[in-house]
Order: sequence, then structure tokens, then C-alpha cells
Amino acid sequence: MLLFNTQRELVSHLNSISNEKTSIGFVPTMGALHQGHLSLLEESLKHNSINVISIFVNPTQFNNAEDLAKYPKTLDADIEKIKSVSDAIIVFAPSVDDIYEGKTISQHFDYDGLENQMEGKFRPGHFDGVGTIVKRLFEIVKPNNAYFGEKDFQQLQIVKKLVSKYKIPVNVVGCPIYRETNGLAMSSRNERLTQEERKKAAIIYKTISQAKKLFALKSAKEVTDFVVREFKKQSDFELEYFQIADEATLLPCTRKTKGKKYRAFIAVFVNKIRLIDTISLN
Ligand code: PAF
Repeated sequence: MLLFNTQRELVSHLNSISNEKTSIGFVPTMGALHQGHLSLLEESLKHNSINVISIFVNPTQFNNAEDLAKYPKTLDADIEKIKSVSDAIIVFAPSVDDIYEGKTISQHFDYDGLENQMEGKFRPGHFDGVGTIVKRLFEIVKPNNAYFGEKDFQQLQIVKKLVSKYKIPVNVVGCPIYRETNGLAMSSRNERLTQEERKKAAIIYKTISQAKKLFALKSAKEVTDFVVREFKKQSDFELEYFQIADEATLLPCTRKTKGKKYRAFIAVFVNKIRLIDTISLN
């Protein structure tokens, strides 16, 4: 397994091994890897001859200094996990300076309104930071295929919009959510939960699964009211938002329209740790 800490070294290595017959698969991450990330790597390995994973906690996508400071950093353990998938994976773990070259600021992006909903509304500037780093990483790695988890479904749609607007020649692939046995969506932030909180956080998936069943019979407003009521009963959890939205536009569903695909999105705080999840509704 090769580890590069600077873009210069990575680019020079990739230039030396790639040609018109090779295909580069890329998995961008912020580390604290879990089975969900490893499944993205496995998907990448199936379809590409060169496989790269980046591990970089991107400061510009955090709108909360405490969240950034507490974001788990577990590079050695991450490397062991990557090796357990394959020894042939290339790891790119740059420093903030190497990526931002002294100007740790985001570029502003217009994603045709996708950025104004949910995560974008509650984490101002978040998707400018995501766009900045993803575009930068795509320019460095020049992947043919890039793999993103559907847990961050809004991010996935935004990255697809970014590559189409900027005509970046990469195929963006969405991969299914990985869940703990109790249903909790796997996330690097789960590392910060106590065992007890982790157990109790099963309520998130349980509630959105109930919401999915209800949505077959009730309106989006009735389903939303149900979820809000459920979380009011939970003293350890604070619901930040629950939104049923059109999968393509991410606009809230006011009235169900035949033929449209809907998805529920949720963000919940457990003892200041913010967890998100999503489920397809039809
Ligand atoms: O989903 C993440 O882990 C991050 O938002 C990403 C795509 C690696 C950009 O920093």
C-alpha cells in the first residue's frame, strides 16, 4: 500500500502508472473509516485498475469549530482497515497547507438550489466547502469513477451537479448506506457516541422506517408531524429537521405527485453529536 502526503508526489505517481487503458477509482473520505467507507473501496476495486482513497478532514466544510476540533482522526487504524481490503490501494492523506496553500477558504458554488435545503440550510457554507474540496481532489486525482455514500444523499446530488456544471469528466457513483445491526447508519461521528447513546440512536432509523410505511397512506405533513411527535418523547435526542423531499430537486414535498421519487431526510443531535440519515420512500 502506498501513502502520499502531498499532491505533488501523488500526481507524479499517478502519472507514472496511468495510461489510456487504466481506470482510476476514487473514494474521498475524512477518515475514521468504517464498513461503509470500505464498501465504497470494494465497489471501486471491482471497476477500476487504480484505486485511490483520500483521507482529509476538510476545514472549510465545517461551520462549527467544536465539530471540526472533535472530528475523529485515526490515520493508523484507517490504514490498517484499507490494507484489509487490498494492499494495492493508494492512500492520499495531505495536510491542510498542501491542499489550501495558505488560503483556507471556500469557493462559492451555485448548485441550482440544491444547496438551500436541509444540510445547506442548517450548516451555512457547508456545501461551498464540500464543492471546494471535491473539485480540488478531482483535479488532483483525475478519477474516472468516484464513489460516495447515499447517507449523505444531498451531498451526492450536489457532487453530481458540480461535475455536470463544471464539465468535470468523472462518473459519480452513489453507494448504499451501511448500517449497524440496530439500524444506525454508519458514520465517523458514531465514534463519538457512548455505547449507551449508540444503542439508543437506533430510534433514528426506526422512526424513519415507520415514516416510510406511513407515507404510503398519509400526506408528507402528517408523516412529518408524526416524526416530530416521536422525537418530542425522546429526552436524549433533539430533532434538527425532518424533511420529505423530491429526490431530484430536494424541494420539500407539499403534495405527492405520481411518478416522482420521494426521500425522507433527518438530522438529530445526541448530546451535541449531530447524526443524519435518509430513506427512500417510494
Ligand atoms: O463525505 C465526506 O466524508 C466529505 O464530505 C467529503 C466528500 C470527503 C469531502 O470532504
